[in-house]
Amino acid sequence: MTERYVVAIDQGTTSTRCIVFDRRGRLVSLAQQEHKQYYPKPGWVEHDAAEIWRNVERLAPEALRRAGITEEQVAAVGIANQRETTLLWDRDTGAPLGHAIVWQDTRTDDLVRDLRDRPDAKLVEHDSALPLATYFSGPRVRWMLDLHPELRARAERGEVLFGTMETWLIWKLTGGLHVTDVTNASRTMLLDVHTLDWSPTALAFFGIPRAMLPEVRPSVGVFGKAVAAFPGVRIGAALGDQQAALFGQTCFTPGEAKCTYGTGSFLLLNTGGELVRSTHGLLSTVAYQIAGGPTAYALEGSIAITGSLVQWFRDQLELIASAPEIETLARTVADNGGCYIVPAFSGLYAPYWRSEARGVIVGLTSYITKGHLARAVLEATAWQTREVVDAMNADSGLDLTTLRVDGGMTADNLLMQFIADVLDVPVVRPLAAETVSLGAAYAAGLAVGYWPDLEGLRQNWHRAAQWLPTMDPRLRTTEYRNWQRAVERTFDWTR
Ligand code: G3P
Repeated sequence: MTERYVVAIDQGTTSTRCIVFDRRGRLVSLAQQEHKQYYPKPGWVEHDAAEIWRNVERLAPEALRRAGITEEQVAAVGIANQRETTLLWDRDTGAPLGHAIVWQDTRTDDLVRDLRDRPDAKLVEHDSALPLATYFSGPRVRWMLDLHPELRARAERGEVLFGTMETWLIWKLTGGLHVTDVTNASRTMLLDVHTLDWSPTALAFFGIPRAMLPEVRPSVGVFGKAVAAFPGVRIGAALGDQQAALFGQTCFTPGEAKCTYGTGSFLLLNTGGELVRSTHGLLSTVAYQIAGGPTAYALEGSIAITGSLVQWFRDQLELIASAPEIETLARTVADNGGCYIVPAFSGLYAPYWRSEARGVIVGLTSYITKGHLARAVLEATAWQTREVVDAMNADSGLDLTTLRVDGGMTADNLLMQFIADVLDVPVVRPLAAETVSLGAAYAAGLAVGYWPDLEGLRQNWHRAAQWLPTMDPRLRTTEYRNWQRAVERTFDWTR
């Protein structure tokens, strides 16, 4: 019998990848393409959805060619995607109506501030289990419909469609199926996370016609058959990329957590079938829903800027030529020299949710070199992790004992050691580095019976690296206090 495989499409913030996995969860081939980032105004970030689709169309055959396999050997395709990024398109022509507005974009800042004052805002926050913030899709749809009133009339007739990136890709892959999955829907602020259907309260609050919304489906279950990119192959799953990483790390048991270090960083704790509400600034989100099976929820600590601070250091300040060089530069000094960088470029997410916050560099003296700045860049990721772990411990009443990590920044040993130091817990990284894609592949494979159950998937998880805490507790306390004082400087600084 010919060997079969599962393919994942990981549509991320900076690039799209197609990865072929085998039955043991091993990576067989990978094809990747970056897409252009548009920054039309300060705080605005956009993507061209047509470009992203062209990339998928090109990467799909490329990944299969590199694996030396055909579509007939692909049991299923799974999608993982950047969440909250918001797109409108024309139902008849299939053409995007403008660029997609990316999750980091803060153009809805004023709108969100106005909406927050409305008495029904609390009801929407309750239904969606999210704080009203620029991060989510709902305010962006409202912003686009306000800007183009003619679109609202067309949206009411179902002629203009809304979708996050998995909805767009499934639409293109299937030639017109308009669906989303519960994990992505739970990031729009339009879903009632209790009923797992669109919330009439949220739709009325944002003034969004239901006719433009996709049908909400389980994340693990066959969505349909592809007619493009992977013709004839079933689409077995779609999940937001952070939920996919939780799945790829096999955190299926309540109490298990992972943190993915990418453009931003996202710590998710599986809370099982129970929706746990945070009182310390975390989000409640859907972790996954298996068709005909269980739904799991998660608590999430979302950090907007981590890897993208390294990119900024490389591309805007031009102090390094490539991202990995930050570690070498940071190792030229013994400590941060008293310098702290708080990258509130998109406001601050968890646990603060301050859209108006803007970044600061504090503690500058003529002693500071680019080595100290490099160290402060890396330390910012660790301290932001510490803040969300503190919130998670306070919410759950339990202390995190180990942190499972993944994502591009985990290649940085100095950073991983510093995270273990500031959290005072071991940090572990699995052998499978591509956990987002692996999670999408696992979910798609489960949906079509390629893998029998969740338990079997756990066997594929192997530890590749571990960092143990070594920091003097007194130093940890002083440094954390300094960091928190720097964070306070980002609030309301223009007012
Ligand atoms: O919520 C945003 C997140 O899904 C983006 O992840 O890895 O594409 O930056 P990433």
